[in-house]
Amino acid sequence: MLFTIPDLLSAEAVADLIAQLEQADTVDGKTTAGWHAKTVKQNQQLDPKHPATAAMIDQVHQVTLKHPLFQSAARPRRIHTLRFNRYSDGMAYGRHTDSALMSGFRSDLSFTLFLSDPDSYEGGELVVEGADSEQAYKLQAGSMLVYPSSSLHRVEPVVSGVRWAAIGWVQSQVRDPAAREILFELDTARRSLFAQYGKTDEFDLITKSLNNLVRRWVD
Ligand code: NI
Repeated sequence: MLFTIPDLLSAEAVADLIAQLEQADTVDGKTTAGWHAKTVKQNQQLDPKHPATAAMIDQVHQVTLKHPLFQSAARPRRIHTLRFNRYSDGMAYGRHTDSALMSGFRSDLSFTLFLSDPDSYEGGELVVEGADSEQAYKLQAGSMLVYPSSSLHRVEPVVSGVRWAAIGWVQSQVRDPAAREILFELDTARRSLFAQYGKTDEFDLITKSLNNLVRRWVD
């Protein structure tokens, strides 16, 4: 399942992050790519040793984990990896899949939090391939795309301007994407029922089923 979280960060929070990122040092993105992804990865990443990096990562980490849609749709066990990257001057990240394991943690879901105003750069779409089609995403600054780590995807060349984004990987409590989707839809349906009719017998039954399925499927 692929979903977007609009306005995860406020305009003020985005502006503050961009101001800090513009001051910071970057390193070659190839340093964190696998041997095959290295061949198609051309970007820069915020230097992990930069003094403000840890605080910026923590800020995005906290706000993402707290978001109700992220909690319900991703069921995160943990966000185990988070970085900031920068594309300019024709940089791109060609077609690849993300590693299944990072620092010993499984990557079930990947996310991109777009930070630069989409009108300030040309190109830079994140393209995610499906079975027989592909979809390009270029979201507003502060909005996030969450997509399966198992998908083939790429970042189109940034022809002009600068594209900053925060990218991360999530290990879910529920490893099967189909199971995760069922839990998400049941949760969405019961919340809608609750909003319309309150805590009815039907709500209680769906909640019971939802919890029992979580017990079966959580790992
Ligand atoms: Ni990737």
